[in-house]
Amino acid sequence: MDVFERVNHLIAEIEAATATNPEEVERFRIRYVGSKNVLKPLMGEMRNIEANRRRDFGQLVNRAKEVAQQKLDDLQSATAVQSADDDGTTIDLTAPGEPQPLGSRHPISLTMRRIVSIFERIGFAVAEGPEVEDDWHNFSAMNTPEDHPARDMQDTFYVAAGMPAGPDNTAMLLRTHTSSVQARTMENQKPPIRIIAPGRVYRNETISARSHAQFHQLEGLYIAEKVSFADMKATLLHFAREMYGEDTKIRLRPSYFPFTEPSAEMDIWWGLETEHDHRITKGTGWLEIMGCGMVDPQVLTNCGIDPEKYSGYAFGMGIERQAMLLYNITDIRLMFENDVRFLRQFASVL
Ligand code: PHE
Repeated sequence: MDVFERVNHLIAEIEAATATNPEEVERFRIRYVGSKNVLKPLMGEMRNIEANRRRDFGQLVNRAKEVAQQKLDDLQSATAVQSADDDGTTIDLTAPGEPQPLGSRHPISLTMRRIVSIFERIGFAVAEGPEVEDDWHNFSAMNTPEDHPARDMQDTFYVAAGMPAGPDNTAMLLRTHTSSVQARTMENQKPPIRIIAPGRVYRNETISARSHAQFHQLEGLYIAEKVSFADMKATLLHFAREMYGEDTKIRLRPSYFPFTEPSAEMDIWWGLETEHDHRITKGTGWLEIMGCGMVDPQVLTNCGIDPEKYSGYAFGMGIERQAMLLYNITDIRLMFENDVRFLRQFASVL
C-alpha cells in the first residue's frame, strides 16, 4: 500500500468512527487528533515522495487532519446531548434557548430619572422623606395655617380614623406634597443646602383622565447666604432648556403658597401650532410646569435656620404631567394600571 493509499484508508476509518460515550470519544481524540496521533508520522514520509507529488500529498494529509477534527467535534456534541441527569432525563444542550423578554422602565421613572439627572449635574443632591408623614412636616412647619383648606379631610388622606393621632398627638397623613422633605432637610442639615426630593404624594381627589389620588413630585430647595429670586429663575430656565430643548422660553406668574414669599408659577412656552397644542394650553400656548418661590422666613425659623443670615428658594413640580407631555399620554390613569400593552411601549427608552 503506498502512502497515498494509507492516508485515504485512514480518512475512511475516521469517517466511519462512532462513539456512544465520552470515553470512546477520548479514545478517538488520542488516536486521530492528540499530540501523538496516527497522522503525524505520515508527514515524515514526505521526503520519500517524488518532488512533483509532494504538494498533493501534503494536501491529502491536511484533509485527513480536518476530517479528524470535524469528526471529533461531532462525536463530542453527540455524546454531550445524550449525557443524562441523575433522574435519567436528558437535556438537549444544542436546543435553542428560551428568549428572555426585555423589561421596560415605567414612563414615570423615565421622566423622574431625566429630571433628577439635570439637577444632579448642577450640584443638587437627592434627599428623601417618608410617605406617611406627620402634620408638622407636611403642614405646620411649612407655614400652613390650621384652617387652611388643604388640611381638610376632603383634600388629605389621614392615616387611621379618629385622627389626629400619632407621636405628640400630631395627625399622621399621606404627604400631600414633597415639600415635607424641605422641612426635614432643614431640620437636619446646616446651610448651604442644595437638594432635590423626588417622590410619591397623595391627595383625596376624584380620579379622572387628568388627576389621580396618587402622583409624583420633585421638590427642589436651595438655602445659602444671599440667594436671590434671580438665582432661582436662572436655575429653572436651565432646567426647562435641558428638559424641553435649548430654545425653550419660560415665564413666572405671581402666585401664592403658604411656604414661599414671593411665590410664582412657572410656565413653559409650548406653542400653538396644532389643535392638540390649543387644547393642552387652553389656547394660551403656555403650560404650567411647577410652583416656586423664595422660602418664607417663617419656614426657616420653624426649621431652625436663621432668616437674617440665610435665604433660599424652593420649587415643586408634578412628574405625571411632564411624562404625559414627553410621551403624548392622554390619560393619567394609564400610568397606574400597569397594563403591559402600555408599559411595553417604553421598552426602547433609556
Ligand atoms: N408644594 C407645592 C405644591 O404641591 C409646590 C411648591 C413647592 C411651591 C415648593 C413652591 C415651592 O403645589
